[in-house]
Amino acid sequence: MSKPYIEIVKSAKYRLTGNGSRNIGMLMESFEGIDPSTDSDAYGNGAVINDFESELAELLGKEKAVFFPSGTMAQQIAMRMWSDKKGLRKVAYHPLCHLEIHEQDGMKVLHHLESILLGSKDRLFTIEDLKSINEPIAALLIELPQREIGGQLPSYDALVEISYYCRDKGIKLHLDGARLFEALPYYGKSAKEICSLFDSVYVSFYKGLGGIAGAVLAGGTDFIEEAKLWKRRHGGDLISLYPYIISAKYNLDKRMGKMKQYWMHAKTIAERLNKMKGVKTVPDVPVCNMFHAYFDMSKETAENISTSVIEKYNIAIVTNISAIDADTCKSELSFGDSCSLIPEESLKEALDQLELEFSRL
Ligand SMILES: Cc1ncc(COP(=O)(O)O)c(C=O)c1O
Repeated sequence: MSKPYIEIVKSAKYRLTGNGSRNIGMLMESFEGIDPSTDSDAYGNGAVINDFESELAELLGKEKAVFFPSGTMAQQIAMRMWSDKKGLRKVAYHPLCHLEIHEQDGMKVLHHLESILLGSKDRLFTIEDLKSINEPIAALLIELPQREIGGQLPSYDALVEISYYCRDKGIKLHLDGARLFEALPYYGKSAKEICSLFDSVYVSFYKGLGGIAGAVLAGGTDFIEEAKLWKRRHGGDLISLYPYIISAKYNLDKRMGKMKQYWMHAKTIAERLNKMKGVKTVPDVPVCNMFHAYFDMSKETAENISTSVIEKYNIAIVTNISAIDADTCKSELSFGDSCSLIPEESLKEALDQLELEFSRL
């Protein structure tokens, strides 16, 4: 049996995307400057967790923040709390929202909330989609950038319009900022400025930032104090969360300032891929460090071609390929530190080789 594609990717010296292997060395690196006698946190208390929560509250411009082991837990809780406060069990979001497609319906099964899907799967929703709901909702969730459609972003003006509309209608606005830091260069605004449009915000530390895991939920003092109770109820109050927190802080400090560089890499590579036969990126011009590439060929053909490029140049251009149907497939490309490690000339040659192989199909 031939080697699985993922193993071939792992054997490549260079990868175009990501921040490197997610191995245990990542955790060890983030502990390098840490004094071993530092006290651990205990059930949500202690300097290691509380100082980081204060730092994030300040960064996001909110009164308080609480560290969670996962965004899944944090956001279901946020939706639950806004619904309770409004006495209404309906929340609205994009049809490809993480809560809708990746959480085994946790929000519905555990919290008995109902989702209202806005717009259609292949585009961002608009204020018109929101206005067209003819039933009251407790909260609206906006994901910036919208991962499942290649990391697209609404304009800042569109966000402001939605935010004002929600305030006017008493709808609580929540930000799924799993990749918020990745989106900031496009807006040319600080995290604080973007978050000021939202009532509550979640950010992640392991996407573009490259940490181990973990999330922060930020908002007003009362909201966050109540979120801590829910975190406890959900078993999210681990006796110690410091491995995640130390990794989160280390990687936030390391990569927050590099998001523009990652975005520029995404733009350059998308432009190059769009010149190749049978390849199209979504969006056409990336607005953050990620995009999706669509290929007019089977998954097997794309993997074989990518494998031949890896064998010749030791560079994995695409690390994941999923079939859409028998004749088309797609890949998600998210840029981080790995891209700039590749010698420029080798990358150019590898991309030329990819183009040549595609042109022969
Ligand atoms: C947009 C978005 N929201 C929420 C989450 C959930 O994060 P976690 O894996 O920390 O539960 C993810 C994870 O991939 C995500 O991509």
